[in-house]
Amino acid sequence: MLGRVPNRHIRMSGTTAPVIQMRRQSQRADDENAMTCTLTLTRPDDWHLHLRDGGMLDVVAPETAAHFGRALIMPNLVPPVVKGADAADYRDRILAAIPPGHDFTPLMTLYLTETTDAADLLAAAQSGLVTAVKLYPAGATTNSASGVRDIDRVVPVLEAMSEAGLPLCVHGEVTDPQVDIFDREAVFIERVLDPLRRRIPALRVVMEHVTTADGIAYVRDGGDNIAATLTTHHLFINRNHILAGGIRPHYYCLPVAKRESHRLALLEAAISGVSNVFLGTDSAPHLDSLKLAECGCAGIYTAPNTLACLAQIFEEQGALDRLDGFVARHGAVFYGVPVNSGTVTLEKCDAPQPVPSPRATPDGMLTVFDPGVPIYWRVADA
Ligand code: NCD
Ligand code: ZN
Repeated sequence: MLGRVPNRHIRMSGTTAPVIQMRRQSQRADDENAMTCTLTLTRPDDWHLHLRDGGMLDVVAPETAAHFGRALIMPNLVPPVVKGADAADYRDRILAAIPPGHDFTPLMTLYLTETTDAADLLAAAQSGLVTAVKLYPAGATTNSASGVRDIDRVVPVLEAMSEAGLPLCVHGEVTDPQVDIFDREAVFIERVLDPLRRRIPALRVVMEHVTTADGIAYVRDGGDNIAATLTTHHLFINRNHILAGGIRPHYYCLPVAKRESHRLALLEAAISGVSNVFLGTDSAPHLDSLKLAECGCAGIYTAPNTLACLAQIFEEQGALDRLDGFVARHGAVFYGVPVNSGTVTLEKCDAPQPVPSPRATPDGMLTVFDPGVPIYWRVADA
């Protein structure tokens, strides 16, 4: 077990930089929280994040900025972030919500609609304002009503993006009511994503928050122009966690968690070291009053404890040496940006750490993800 390994340095194959340093600290017998070792990672990136706006933004943005160097900011506000000018304004509001002293860069996305102005989109990308474009099938998830109904209508924009090398981030679920909700990702690959990629092979695509073995298999066999993001929560929960023994709205998100065999496929991919699979938390805050309603919102707030949860599960899999690639390197390489120069340090405690308490926002309380298993790791204070 890592907790008892003294003075160990792990090097990633193919690089000379020590990416993970673990050292045993002196244990204090009188303190059950005494730290036993630390883990220093390259400052990570979150390649799929919802920050919302207004009072919620002010609460959640500092929590991501405390741990992450960059995050790809989802554009599903109401109204959505469609034009370059919308993204510039939203980026300013995000930066205003980040406390001084945090080294954090929001990377902006535009929300693709059937009437998106290709010239505006390309200008926003060329100026460096926008990093990617987001495809929501209309009605697939939270605030997706302005999304795409007929993929044929956006093919000219996608062709222009392909030429410009601008990645398309995809919410990969069909919305056909005939398709069972647990099958919507696999059917999306077959009906929409694969035909689209055959039509525009040079288009760079990120299949976001993959939840199925089918999605993992598709991305693994998909060549250099496709990548997958995985969330933290889908590595911990399966559909039983949502539904067995009572319904647990705080575990409801989209795409909905699938059966255990799929969770295991995601976990295997996360720890595999495969370079086109990386973290996108999909941390998606909703007020408790909206989660615990007769028709509750989809989304799980994981930003505060994502790194602690990931350290725990990678350690249990004997894969801590792969964590740096998953959270800090693979995504940067795919998106063509430098790996962050800073670090973040986690410490392993002798006792399980409490689930972060609900956050107070101006409009109500916000519950943080409970992974349902003991987490011994925490991010060390800077
Ligand atoms: C996200 C949200 O709340 O904006 N919800 C979710 O369940 N993940 C939207 C999304 O990414 O699907
Ligand atoms: Zn999302």
